[in-house]
Amino acid sequence: MRFLIATCLLAAVCHGQYVKPGPCPEFTTKLDFEIPPYMGKWYEYARFTTPDQTGQTCNYAEYADNGNGTVAVHNAGLEADGTYSEIYGWVEPSDVGGALLLHLNGVPVVGDYNVLDTDYEGYASVYSCQALLGLGHVEQAWILARTPALEQNKIDAAAAAFTNFGIDVNQFMATPQENCVFP
Ligand SMILES: *[C@@H]1O[C@H](CO)[C@@H](O)[C@H](O)[C@H]1NC(C)=O
Repeated sequence: MRFLIATCLLAAVCHGQYVKPGPCPEFTTKLDFEIPPYMGKWYEYARFTTPDQTGQTCNYAEYADNGNGTVAVHNAGLEADGTYSEIYGWVEPSDVGGALLLHLNGVPVVGDYNVLDTDYEGYASVYSCQALLGLGHVEQAWILARTPALEQNKIDAAAAAFTNFGIDVNQFMATPQENCVFP
């Protein structure tokens, strides 16, 4: 979760992202998405493979209601060499339910945080796709989980949120969540 957008929108080219041909897939967010039950800690169960994030483990996100319509974001985890890494930011809702706008500290652009599905208590399926004019598109996706492990039926539900829109879940790689020692 940490590098949502940061890796992609910072530069004119999507540094460290795999560019795929064609347009972004058409998808709809979870239109009845509610912020309060989504607050709290989420473990990164899996993410789309990106060259920049190789070796990252123990990633998690914490969301807290700011009480003014925005949500505080804290993303953290361990780099491949075991060092702790974190970023703060905030999220605001848009006119479309489940389509949130993400602002990360130090990142001068606003990112998409599309909740395709969540049951709030088990899993969340989060997606971002950016069209690159004439070049194709880049995608980022996450399966988040309330616990470091996730039951198979919830993995299946989380994956279905992507496959429903033709998004290839073979791009997911599991995020190790064992032996996580934070400073
Ligand atoms: C919302 O609250 C947070 C935390 O107090 C604050 O940092 C932020 O500036 C506020 N945003 C708005 C739009 O009022």
